[in-house]
Amino acid sequence: MPITVVGAGYVGLVTGACLAGIGHRVTVVDRDEGRIAGLRAGRMPIYEEGLAELVGDEVAMGRLSFATALAAAVAEAAAVFICVGTPPRPSDGHADMGQVMAAAGTIAPHLAAGTVVVVKSTVPVGTGDEVEALVRTLTTTQDVAVVSNPEFLREGVAIADFMRPDRIVVGTDDGRAAAVMAAIYRPLTERGAPLLVTDRRAAELIKYAANSFLALKITYINEIANLCEEIGADVGDVARGIGLDPRIGAQFLKAGPGFGGSCFPKDMLALMKTGQDHGVPLRSVETAVAVNDARKGEMVRKIVRAAGGSVAGRRIAVLGLTFKAGTDDMRSAASLVILPQLQKQGARITAFDPAGMAEAAPLLPGVAMAESAMAALAGADLAVVLTEWPEFAALDLAAAARAMRSPVLVDLRNLLDPEVAARAGFHYRSVGRAARDAAARDAASPAASAAMPLPVLELS
Ligand code: UDX
Repeated sequence: MPITVVGAGYVGLVTGACLAGIGHRVTVVDRDEGRIAGLRAGRMPIYEEGLAELVGDEVAMGRLSFATALAAAVAEAAAVFICVGTPPRPSDGHADMGQVMAAAGTIAPHLAAGTVVVVKSTVPVGTGDEVEALVRTLTTTQDVAVVSNPEFLREGVAIADFMRPDRIVVGTDDGRAAAVMAAIYRPLTERGAPLLVTDRRAAELIKYAANSFLALKITYINEIANLCEEIGADVGDVARGIGLDPRIGAQFLKAGPGFGGSCFPKDMLALMKTGQDHGVPLRSVETAVAVNDARKGEMVRKIVRAAGGSVAGRRIAVLGLTFKAGTDDMRSAASLVILPQLQKQGARITAFDPAGMAEAAPLLPGVAMAESAMAALAGADLAVVLTEWPEFAALDLAAAARAMRSPVLVDLRNLLDPEVAARAGFHYRSVGRAARDAAARDAASPAASAAMPLPVLELS
């Protein structure tokens, strides 16, 4: 089926390449000429595992192409996917619909009869109605439908998420549009992906409700982790114990420095605003946002405690800057709050991230960027694991401990085994498992625990 995707950003590129991958003939259109020229030359504007290869294959097979001119690509499409950005407006935090409405207005005059306009960008509830009203005033044919089709792609595994979705949500009450969408996604539904057709507003809300729920789960386990530290329990055990209940589920129960990324913070803000606008405040979501914001400060205090009460004049090695592993994305990354707070308290920071340093450098003034994890650790007084990159789990810990001036390690992702870290010579602190950190310390160095406790070993 001929499909046009408007927007060669993260969602547009992944969607376009994957739709080509399941057999459609796709044109991805973007007004940014440099971006389109780069894509034609095989250069990806974003880092996503497997994307460059998929784009290369589909272009070679003739199923995927890139263009800056919209008119022809829209006129011949059976469906036009709007995949443009919806950043928060600086004035009030509401999602900015400028790009979505501009895209809708630009494509409308070129739509052929029967074309389905698909809003894939994450948009506030009711946007579909506005897009439809605009399209109808500008089209020459009234035979168009506007459907909502939210994406649930996780950065780093977006292609797998597209190809093996938990569900495909299509919001429309137009039967013919629903049939077109079903045909587009048939290669996936034939492999077992459930297709859920709802009204358009429900589809729009599903996206926000899903992301906010996942963020609530993370916030909840982070608070349970705080409690674990006080009562001497392991949050990993608690997460496993509750996650085996299928009503709860095991995923998104990893304690850490708080959630970030391009979706959760923005989508929760948008959902909160929608609730407030309709006189239905979503207090659980509001609380989770506040708890998650406060968590960065808690992480700073944890690092300062591990440093013996002050980081002034200390050199801190930070491993990982991106909001999670597997991406170069720095949006709402915990590092953007934690590192400046440490700098304010007098710390000198050297950081390393396997993918995010180019993005991070301009956002983190005064942070020295090292060429490797080992280079960041060399001579440091304290190390912090902030992103769960697998290469940090595979570090030669004994060599890392030796390279540091004092081997203190604060693991905010519970990436390492406390006993292994202690045996390698580290004073090790993690999240929600103070008892295991302490047990590891005692096992590694029984004499030390009997002697005067070091400030870095406080369990507060
Ligand atoms: C998310 C949703 O998962 C995806 O469905 C949606 O389309 C976009 O937003 P993404 O932002 O790529 O995807 O990352 P995700 O893997 O969901 O992680 C979000 C944040 O939560 C990260 O900061 C991550 O480190 C954190 N997280 C996740 C935890 O702290 N603990 C967990 O158990 C899971």
